[in-house]
Amino acid sequence: MTHPHDHGVVPHDDAFHDEEADAAARHAAAHDPTLPEPPAHPDHVHAPGPPGSSVADDAPELLRLEGLEVHFPIRGGLLDILTRRQRGVVRAVDGIDLTIRKGEILALVGESGSGKTTTGRVVVKLTRQTGGAVVVDGKDVSTLWGSRALRAYRRRVQLIFQDPYETLNPKHTIGEFVIEPLIVNNIGAKEERFQRALDALDAAGLRPAADYAARYPHELSGGQRQRVVIAGALVMDPELVVADEPVSMLDVSIRTELLRLMLDLRRERGLTYLFITHDLSIAWVIADRIAVMYLGRIMEIGPAEQVIRRPRNPYTQALVSVSPSPDPPAPGEREARTILVGETPDAAHVPTGCRFHPRCPLAFDRCTVEEPPLFDVGEGHKAACWLAEAGPLDLPVIDAVQAAGGSEVAAVEAGVATDVPA
Ligand SMILES: Nc1ncnc2c1ncn2[C@@H]1O[C@H](COP(=O)(O)OP(=O)(O)OP(=O)(O)O)[C@@H](O)[C@H]1O
Ligand code: SF4
Ligand SMILES: [Mg+2]
Repeated sequence: MTHPHDHGVVPHDDAFHDEEADAAARHAAAHDPTLPEPPAHPDHVHAPGPPGSSVADDAPELLRLEGLEVHFPIRGGLLDILTRRQRGVVRAVDGIDLTIRKGEILALVGESGSGKTTTGRVVVKLTRQTGGAVVVDGKDVSTLWGSRALRAYRRRVQLIFQDPYETLNPKHTIGEFVIEPLIVNNIGAKEERFQRALDALDAAGLRPAADYAARYPHELSGGQRQRVVIAGALVMDPELVVADEPVSMLDVSIRTELLRLMLDLRRERGLTYLFITHDLSIAWVIADRIAVMYLGRIMEIGPAEQVIRRPRNPYTQALVSVSPSPDPPAPGEREARTILVGETPDAAHVPTGCRFHPRCPLAFDRCTVEEPPLFDVGEGHKAACWLAEAGPLDLPVIDAVQAAGGSEVAAVEAGVATDVPA
């Protein structure tokens, strides 16, 4: 294992600091009406890649999900469990296709219950899919369940959990936590394990590593605890990291440090991330590409800049409109925000047609009966919406009044419906 970290993993990279400062200022500007002149947004934060690294166009594919499906049975009670009777299914993941190239960061975004964690758990093989395939480096790993095969797989694919408070056992030292995956997977002799654990702590920015290794979780801050969780993944020297809401429990300033660490690790170790977050602004800061999930399906996927600046699906547009804007409005102007109304999405009762139609302010007749596939709208950008069928059409700006009324006027304006209902 190589450890190119002697120079330190949290470098003082001026370029990053400038962008970080801009991002922080944009965030503040989007929320603070007293700030008169929000700073200009840099044209290309992500193209050709996020700060510090870029993904070459010809980088090979590392992960492919093909029609991935996870349906959980609903059982009413003990009798149902004993008799294996099923009262319905929760369609947590309902047929998704995506690829991630080596060195790429793909953010999976969506509101609670959209199936993000379930997707991540299937990739790390903590949950079995009920359909479709997971392909890593061209090899279908869907049926890989024997303990030896799983052990080898888990060296390559690691999960960073959401909650460091739950992940860390208060009775174990940090060193014991980080060394544990090596013991469980029977990797290395005692001395080597110890050294690898120290290296992983060091790589996660916990220095001097020996000092941190001897501490207990309660002796660390929240940000340091999340670094320990990252070290626990790094110790296995993985290629692919599934990070499930890794910064959502942290203060904004600590978040920035952790995101920077993850970008540095990608650059230095060639890591690839499936980065799960409900927060589109975090996805925008870290990801090369963003996939937006809704009720188990991908509604939109494409380069981060494209998805945020030119969303082609009304659901993404609604998420973008309530996130801190990359282009804050001029002083005195109000930003249009789409407040989603209607039924709370329920994966046990997925609507017919486009599953977003009960809440979509642009829904029209066809949406209630036919589910749109992902339409290619150019430059690697795809949207599952009938409005995208004709190509890259800018969505009409929807404001809260239209959203609340479920108006179809905009669909008519966009040329995809011919009639406005009474
Ligand atoms: N083991 C399970 N058995 C039954 N249903 C489940 C199980 N795990 C998840 N679900 C259901 O699957 C759906 C997707 O859950 P998931 O945890 O993947 O969503 P999520 O997008 O990660 O949400 P959050 O942002 O709240 O973490 C939800 O309706 C959830 O209740
Ligand atoms: S297909 Fe129809 S309901 Fe679905 S997102 Fe597009 S306009 Fe809205
Ligand atoms: Mg989750």
